[in-house]
Amino acid sequence: MPPLSDKFGRPITDLRISITDHCNYKCVYCRTGNEGALYGDLPFADYLRMVRVLVGMGIQKVRITGGEPLLRKGVVEFIRELAQLRDLEGEALDLALTTNGHLLPEMAVPLKQAGLRRVTVSMDAVDPDRFARITRVASGFDNVLAGIRAARRAGLWPLKVNCVLMRGFNEDQIIPFGMFAREEGVVVRFIEFMPLEEDRLWSPQTVVTLDEIVKRMAEYRPLVEIPRERSETARRFRFDDGVGEIGIIAPVSHPFCGHCSRIRITSDGKIRTCLFSVWDHDLHGRMRNGASDAELEDYIHGVVQKKEERHHIGEPDFVPASRTMVHIGG
Ligand code: GTP
Ligand code: 5AD
Repeated sequence: MPPLSDKFGRPITDLRISITDHCNYKCVYCRTGNEGALYGDLPFADYLRMVRVLVGMGIQKVRITGGEPLLRKGVVEFIRELAQLRDLEGEALDLALTTNGHLLPEMAVPLKQAGLRRVTVSMDAVDPDRFARITRVASGFDNVLAGIRAARRAGLWPLKVNCVLMRGFNEDQIIPFGMFAREEGVVVRFIEFMPLEEDRLWSPQTVVTLDEIVKRMAEYRPLVEIPRERSETARRFRFDDGVGEIGIIAPVSHPFCGHCSRIRITSDGKIRTCLFSVWDHDLHGRMRNGASDAELEDYIHGVVQKKEERHHIGEPDFVPASRTMVHIGG
């Protein structure tokens, strides 16, 4: 069978798999802070089978997400198993994990030793009070900063820091994050806020756009755009003196759906073909009913053909996704 691609000819090479929809943070752009419905999680052996089948179909990049994936006991062993897999060209996977960083101080070294290549840490303010207001956790800032440094020391590289910008919360953090990127030697990526949160705070006015970020940063130092991979989420920039890298992920003002290479598996084993899907596809249900690997492959092929052409954020016909970010996986 040829490697996986959708009906628009987009190669599907990236998988993002959520291993829990529990989280110890309550970020305003994501969770309400009320526990709400949880979809739950599956044994690691089941995720491993799904990933193995998908890697046999052309997946090269696997990102582990949540919820907060480091809350799940056994995650290090799971990564050790994933690190053994080889893609269709016989190469090891580009194995990455997105985390809030809270548990990284003690887990960075074991994760690296298990075969994880890199981590992306979510950190939405370099000011501790602002950080607490966004995450709604009183004392996380020091852990996350220590986690970023521990990950760097452990060689989880390149290290990216994701900052979701929301007007009224942290747009004043743009320049401080520019300094942070240069001082800490990490890639800071600003993300435009998307309507995927439980609190329903989103409106077009809450989005701090790519153009605005570039303009604001220029008051500190000008940014110069540098090349990127076509399917990358982030536009990449360097400061004019060559020190420090900034990324801007602009799904609202500059959508990148045309080159989307991603599918997702939720913690309860459903395939989602887009962050903004209004349905999911029950891969785990088929496994439970005894499907063979070949039957799973057929099913996945059919599902991928239904991948949405693009999202409709900000348009009159926008229909919210059937799950919020914490229940999809970032
Ligand atoms: P790299 O492999 O390091 O480039 O990581 P990544 O950018 O694929 O992963 P990361 O988890 O850092 O994703 C960054 C953010 O981009 C996510 O948290 C989302 O906010 C956004 N994003 C990722 N994938 C999609 C997508 O398919 N659609 C939209 N609209 N946004 C996405
Ligand atoms: N809009 C944009 N990005 C979001 N993330 C979570 N919720 C949103 C949202 N509503 C990002 C987090 C994290 C990743 C998992 O997804 O910052 O880096």
